[in-house]
Amino acid sequence: MMNVMKKEDVVGDYKEYTLSLYDGSEKTVYVTDIEKPFPEGKLIVSRTDTQGIITHCNEAFVFMSGWKEEELIGQPQNILRHPDIPKAVFKDIWDTLGANKKWSGYLKNLRKDGSYYWVNATVIPNVRNGEVVGYASVRRKPAANQIKKIEVEYAKMREQEGGAS
Ligand SMILES: Cc1cc2nc3c(=O)[nH]c(=O)nc-3n(C[C@H](O)[C@H](O)[C@H](O)COP(=O)(O)O)c2cc1C
Repeated sequence: MMNVMKKEDVVGDYKEYTLSLYDGSEKTVYVTDIEKPFPEGKLIVSRTDTQGIITHCNEAFVFMSGWKEEELIGQPQNILRHPDIPKAVFKDIWDTLGANKKWSGYLKNLRKDGSYYWVNATVIPNVRNGEVVGYASVRRKPAANQIKKIEVEYAKMREQEGGAS
């Protein structure tokens, strides 16, 4: 079962969005304007299987997500998906991984309580005996001036996508 956000877990005024997911399904998320600061000196790490299902995550990942570890393991990595990230960014991640390459870029991630945090993410294929057995992501604290630029870029991309989530 996919874990979905609940209104009663959300802190503050929120907007409701229906995200259309890559697999054709939809999910409703509740989004506030509250930013959760990236923890100093930490890396936010997760590993997934080849389908993007979370298999491992570190303490910083759990802490920043607002979910409990047992609510995260076995869930799709899109549990963090924020409506402000254009679909083309996720397509680029999966196309890059599909070509067996490393992807780096900025992501705004959604927390269980509706707030968000920006990350500078690197996602890599996890290869064993020449075979891709999953993926891993390490997320660092992004520079504030980079976030300003990327917000403008992503807003333009969202417009090009017709503003749909
Ligand atoms: C290892 C790995 C890490 C990922 N990290 C994130 C992340 O931090 N935030 C995010 O929104 N999507 C992340 N993704 C992409 C999601 O799998 C997913 O494609 C995205 O959230 C959009 O959802 P959808 O593909 O179901 O439409 C990651 C994927 C992989 C393989």
